[in-house]
Amino acid sequence: MSALSPDPIVAADSAEAAGAIPLRFVGPDDVIAEPARAWAERMGFKGKPGQIVVVPNTDGGIDHVLVGAGKTFDPTSARALSARLPTGLYRLEVKPEDARVAALAFLLGRYAFDRYKPRADTSEVRLVAPEGFDAAEASRIASACALAREMVDTPAADMGPLQMETIAREIAEAHGATLSVVTGDDLLEQNYPAIHAVGRAAAPHRAPRILEIGWNLDRTDRPLVALVGKGVAFDSGGLDIKPAAGMRNMKKDMGGAAHALALGRLVMQAGLDVRLVVLVAAVENAISADAFRPGDILSSRKGLTIEIGNTDAEGRLILADALARASEHAPDLTLDFATLTGAARIALGPELPPLYTDDDTLAADLLAAADAVRDPLWRMPLWPGYRAAIDSDLADVRNDSAGWAQGGSITAALFLQKFAPTTGAWAHMDIFAWNPRNRPGWPEGGEAQGLRAAYAMLRARYAKS
Ligand code: BES
Ligand code: MN
Ligand code: ZN
Repeated sequence: MSALSPDPIVAADSAEAAGAIPLRFVGPDDVIAEPARAWAERMGFKGKPGQIVVVPNTDGGIDHVLVGAGKTFDPTSARALSARLPTGLYRLEVKPEDARVAALAFLLGRYAFDRYKPRADTSEVRLVAPEGFDAAEASRIASACALAREMVDTPAADMGPLQMETIAREIAEAHGATLSVVTGDDLLEQNYPAIHAVGRAAAPHRAPRILEIGWNLDRTDRPLVALVGKGVAFDSGGLDIKPAAGMRNMKKDMGGAAHALALGRLVMQAGLDVRLVVLVAAVENAISADAFRPGDILSSRKGLTIEIGNTDAEGRLILADALARASEHAPDLTLDFATLTGAARIALGPELPPLYTDDDTLAADLLAAADAVRDPLWRMPLWPGYRAAIDSDLADVRNDSAGWAQGGSITAALFLQKFAPTTGAWAHMDIFAWNPRNRPGWPEGGEAQGLRAAYAMLRARYAKS
């Protein structure tokens, strides 16, 4: 990913840390001492969020930097720092708990998608590690988010099912995990009919597949965690084709797979006390003579038949088989990530991924973790009253819910619930995986959502003591 220096966090006890430039976070009502006050006034500094004023010293250097904090300081605003500060080593002048959040935000803000064009800014901003900051852990978390974002940002031509497989293989090999892959017509033999149906229209070199990473599976004393991801390399909508505007960003439809793989890597890096299974259904929802059709009735791994009302509701089909496969491991906990519905955005907008689970403890743990690491999730209901909307006269279930129920993110989650493991808790996150507007620290493009929250929850539950 980014060509920035790999180690932007400097230990507090290092020699150079003593000379670090203070970052002074100032709100509209805070008093600034002279002579910086006069300078700040001259520069139009009002303490608004996003404002940055460099206060020079007398020998051509920087004395300190005033950073607009607004009325209440939001430490995640530090995502903008790497793009907006001049080259230098800085230290955060805020209380340690905010500084730790800000330092991770700073790392997350360093991501830039520069695979096809070198990045414009070349400043090298570094930060002194705040008190109690685990720099190695933060760097792993930031790398996981960067991996997910880079996979999302990479165009579909270069992030097809095969590339997802390659990334899964690299992750598995790096941690002594196994990877098994079932591809193309073998999916029929191995009983993944829904994944095969959705992906069979793609070109042969982009054949559908299921990727399964297994880690520590012989450690049957440990709880088993399954991570499942929707990996639609490109979602044209299939024969019920999407309009141009809706298709434009569908390279991101493998965002769930990117999240599951990146989170799986984190779990293994952290050595959490679990057995781990990562399942990715990797397909392209393409159009060809062999494409599945509206009105088709698919079989599924679980045995339930599925009437296709719309080929654009493809994510739930491939997840049906992946979740059924997860069930066979009798997991204690299953998390799935999927860019599943446009309706999730109608309900909650791009920044709040709906979280679905019937397990109140899991919901509470995930929401508490989301809050703590500033990676929001919003619980939505698996409302049983809408289950009838996915009934079919001809099959066990239909993939496009009846119009009366509206709530498309909810009915999609209810569809998944029919296939999800019942041995333990299951949670589903309907993520957007995308920043729709460009602002410093949050470039338009791929975004990790719920990944840090899920990891914090897993860590709280399963870190080795
Ligand atoms: N991948 C899309 C959902 C999506 C669209 C996510 C835009 C993020 C942004 C999914 O496969 C899809 O097309 N869903 C349809 C379902 C409908 C046909 C029942 C949708 O949400 O419109
Ligand atoms: Mn679709
Ligand atoms: Zn899709």
